[in-house]
Amino acid sequence: MIKISASLMCGNPLKLGEELRRLEEAKVDMIHCDIMDGVFVPNITLGIYMLKAFKEQTKIPLDVHLMVMNPDLFLEELAEIGVDFVTVHSETTLHLHRIIHKIKDLGMCVGVALNPSTPVENIKHVIKDIDLIIIMTVNPGFAGQAFIENTLEKITEVKKLLELKNVNAMIEVDGNINKTTIPRVINSGADVLVLGTSSIFKGPDTDYKEEVEQIRKYT
Ligand code: DX5
Ligand code: ZN
Repeated sequence: MIKISASLMCGNPLKLGEELRRLEEAKVDMIHCDIMDGVFVPNITLGIYMLKAFKEQTKIPLDVHLMVMNPDLFLEELAEIGVDFVTVHSETTLHLHRIIHKIKDLGMCVGVALNPSTPVENIKHVIKDIDLIIIMTVNPGFAGQAFIENTLEKITEVKKLLELKNVNAMIEVDGNINKTTIPRVINSGADVLVLGTSSIFKGPDTDYKEEVEQIRKYT
């Protein structure tokens, strides 16, 4: 069954508590939290300290997407907060195997994200150790960008690799996931959809519950 991870950075920054309550009512499966450092990506969004408040407010698993150059610095704190999934970008570390195992040892589920230009080959030798692969379908850093077509074949490539290695990890897609792209990413092998400004957060009056129900109908 396809899972929905709602990207909280796309919510109203003055009403994040209310956003969480509405997303809970809409029965999303995960809350996608984009953490940026202004170095790996040219933007700064949610901060680590905010995750603690989110965790106190909701029981929905937090799906933390670290877009930072030195992810190692934050892992203990993330574990203390009790976040559920921590995803690091393969481009941000020379020691991907080490960091994956550190996240696991701290008791969290672990994901690896790949930028649109990063080859699937980079995760081939660690794929058995991870729970989630985020295929970036836009360049990370900003909401509201255009979908990068070439990423579809990457999703298929990861799916094949998972089958070949007999691994159960989920494939999450992040960036411009909407009515048009959803059938295509699912056909290619996606299991988790990150929903941002292209779908549930497209306007202040969007009914999240209705939007999620609609998406569930055609997935
Ligand atoms: C991009 C972020 C995404 C983004 C997705 O760096 O990781 O979570 O907010 O939202 P849209 O639908 O605006 O592309
Ligand atoms: Zn993200």
